[in-house]
Amino acid sequence: MKLGIVDMEMATAHHSVSLSALAHATNVDPNKYRFGLRQENFSMPALDEDAVTLGATAASRVLARTGKTAIRTLIFATESSVDQSKSAGVFAADLLDLSVNTRIVETKQACYAGTAALQMALGIVARNPQEQVLVIASDIARYAVNTAGEPTQGAGAVAMVVGADPQLLEIEPQTGVWSAHIDDFWRPNDLSTPLVDGARSLDAYLGAFTGAWEDYLAHGGAGLDEIDYFVHHQPFTKMAVKGHRRLVEHTGKLIDEQTVEPGLRYTTQFGNSYTASLYLGLLSLLHSDADLDGKRIGLYSYGSGATGEFFTGVVQPGYRRVIDSHYADAAINEREELSFEEYRALHAAHERGSKHDYQNPRVTRAPFRFVGVRDGARSYQRNTLPTDSGVISTINKS
Ligand code: HMG
Repeated sequence: MKLGIVDMEMATAHHSVSLSALAHATNVDPNKYRFGLRQENFSMPALDEDAVTLGATAASRVLARTGKTAIRTLIFATESSVDQSKSAGVFAADLLDLSVNTRIVETKQACYAGTAALQMALGIVARNPQEQVLVIASDIARYAVNTAGEPTQGAGAVAMVVGADPQLLEIEPQTGVWSAHIDDFWRPNDLSTPLVDGARSLDAYLGAFTGAWEDYLAHGGAGLDEIDYFVHHQPFTKMAVKGHRRLVEHTGKLIDEQTVEPGLRYTTQFGNSYTASLYLGLLSLLHSDADLDGKRIGLYSYGSGATGEFFTGVVQPGYRRVIDSHYADAAINEREELSFEEYRALHAAHERGSKHDYQNPRVTRAPFRFVGVRDGARSYQRNTLPTDSGVISTINKS
């Protein structure tokens, strides 16, 4: 029995920030960001968006195609959690009108948590192939201003329906995993932005990659020449290329960089989306012109702290009938660009606690919005402004 991704969709935030504007305003050579990091823009949420609204938006888009009757589990992967106790998935399930007979949980291990969620989902559907699992990976990468991490901010979400007989991508059972306790990037409970040792994080990403690759081979994985395309975690676009070069160096084999390029388009525009990043890369590849029928894709997932996993998926013949690049293009083109001053003001305005009540301004055009906090509790609503998709009415019928 084949298990894997039945369908998937994405979402990103309302605003974008141009890295050349950031570079000019902070006296950095724009070529450092353009060529050194290979980044053009990053996405930034409006005040009435958060990881829940982004994730629910991506999920509403995929459920509009798949329906939701077979969903009995929702796994929400994030490191931009909105509560220390309650899963972001509970808020999302409410917005999506999922059945009360749904198991809901949140996963965390930095950017790796999306892959942890996918692997758990595969375990659940292996036991109950008539069920499907909704996996949402959603994050807002927010670094302190005037730090090396500032140009690597971003935001995005991917929702995947995981089940038997997938029409999109069969996930093969062989995987390679690698973990070690490393202080490369982390965010203590009382901080809203992470602490980062940049150079160490690059080394940790690359070390975990070769470690996971060796474990993948030891567990019966495919040879390098049996893998047609690669998608690697993308904290910034150039990192995936660096990872790929490390794999080439490590194996001593020549692998064309064109096997990586089609998976890089969205990160260049959205920046880091932590748990969603690898899967946005996968969507970028699936939406590309490459003919992927029957092709094997190698996927490298990395989460600081640190865990890495290498695994593969086989694109199912006829996949183009399932996927739809419409929303991705809209997500890139419809963002409202901020000036440097507007961006910095919004960055500061996101610094809010839950000790005082507040109501957010109405900004996002997405299907859901974060209304505000009252008596410490967050509230969300369906957006009554005209939305970009009309998927709410579709989803209610399914
Ligand atoms: P930095 O010190 O600003 O930059 O830190 P740099 O001096 O290392 O330069 C970056 C690149 O720009 C270099 O290219 C320079 O040569 C080049 P490279 O040699 O690496 O190929 N450069 C230029 N190119 C053209 N024209 C110029 C020019 N000047 C320099 N004028 C760093 C960069 C990525 C470390 C920083 O942005 C950072 O700390 N980011 C956050 C951490 C991060 O993204 N780490 C990645 C691996 S860890 C990970 O993936 C996990 C993560 O997603 C979190 C999670 O798991 O939850 C982050």
